[in-house]
Amino acid sequence: MKSIKEERNLNGKRILLRLDLNVPLENGKIIDATRIDKILPTLKFLISQNTKIIILSHVGRPKGKIINELSLKPICEDLKNKLNQNVKLIKKNINEINNEDFFDNIDEKIIMLENIRFYYEEEKNDPEFARHLSHLADIYVNDAFSCSHRAHSSIHAVTNFLPSYSGLQFDTEVNALKKITSEIKKPITCIIGGSKVSTKINIIKNLIPKFDNIIIVGGMANNIIKYMGNNIGKSLQEDSSDSIIQEIFSLSETRNCKIIYPQDVIVGKNLYGTPQIKELNEVLSDEMILDIGPKTISVINNIIDESNTILWNGPAGYFENPNFANGSIEIAKKIIENNKSSKIYSVAGGGDTVSLLNSLNSINDFNFVSTAGGAFLEYLEGKELPGIKALN
Ligand code: 3PG
Repeated sequence: MKSIKEERNLNGKRILLRLDLNVPLENGKIIDATRIDKILPTLKFLISQNTKIIILSHVGRPKGKIINELSLKPICEDLKNKLNQNVKLIKKNINEINNEDFFDNIDEKIIMLENIRFYYEEEKNDPEFARHLSHLADIYVNDAFSCSHRAHSSIHAVTNFLPSYSGLQFDTEVNALKKITSEIKKPITCIIGGSKVSTKINIIKNLIPKFDNIIIVGGMANNIIKYMGNNIGKSLQEDSSDSIIQEIFSLSETRNCKIIYPQDVIVGKNLYGTPQIKELNEVLSDEMILDIGPKTISVINNIIDESNTILWNGPAGYFENPNFANGSIEIAKKIIENNKSSKIYSVAGGGDTVSLLNSLNSINDFNFVSTAGGAFLEYLEGKELPGIKALN
């Protein structure tokens, strides 16, 4: 893998730069800009080398359709302000653009193509789409470590057509995770939460042999609560997950890994509803599980006390509403307390987890915070991620 930092011959080159600008948006406003701030050094480096930059990114999961709420416009505006220079958003269909469409003006240095996941070819890792993208530039740079678990056109196939490099943030993330996984101290506890159930549920199985405890909270825990015979009402869930849950439990016994899931929950009638503590068998059909309850928090705190390493990916509930943020805040507080007294080594990862820690002003209270969620977990699995493999 070659880093763009080591390339000296960049003057005047056109760079196709894949970033992960998948930041939380609400009514067109950026809720947490960490992922944007983290890639500024890469952009500044490329600007200093007198390159022309074509930014590619996705936001959300539009699945090949144009969804106006998932436009990169607010992100483009934010970048303009932070770089103090024009960044032009190109809305024209990517399949119809060619490299004569931009950079004709000497002052035009950075352009951004609209959400790459508006094109179904992206997630198909379509070689023709990737070839078309490659014709726009001289060099490809992946500075989206957090997307590198996806074999998508702008992460994987494109590297077949251009000299390809890693970006500065990509290097930082991979070097830190390499160090962490080689120096990790047992007992290790992994806390997995968040709402991307389909991405994470299959990964848990492969993490079992590596960890002493896996604490499952957030959306994924709902499937376990249901599997145990409880009603989960309108809660977020993944269809047909019973066999994978069964596998998770039987493997955890043979591999001596404790699986911890909620013992009580906080429900609401909807995301903005009034919170109510419930036992697992008390959830009604018109309710949603939106956080963990006090008994669960106390179990998790005890496990954190018994651990030497904590890896945390995904909040315990719908923390965007303060009514359902308590579980995530208590987990964060406990990790920070033990970290301050040097009892544990702590790593957090994922867009939502970073956003939660930012809202608590606690980013610097962890040993390392990765912007990656799914990619972070898959890296911990020991897999070679498609994006890393492609650069190699
Ligand atoms: C993330 O938020 O982890 C990355 O942007 C990847 O998003 P995805 O899970 O939708 O592929």
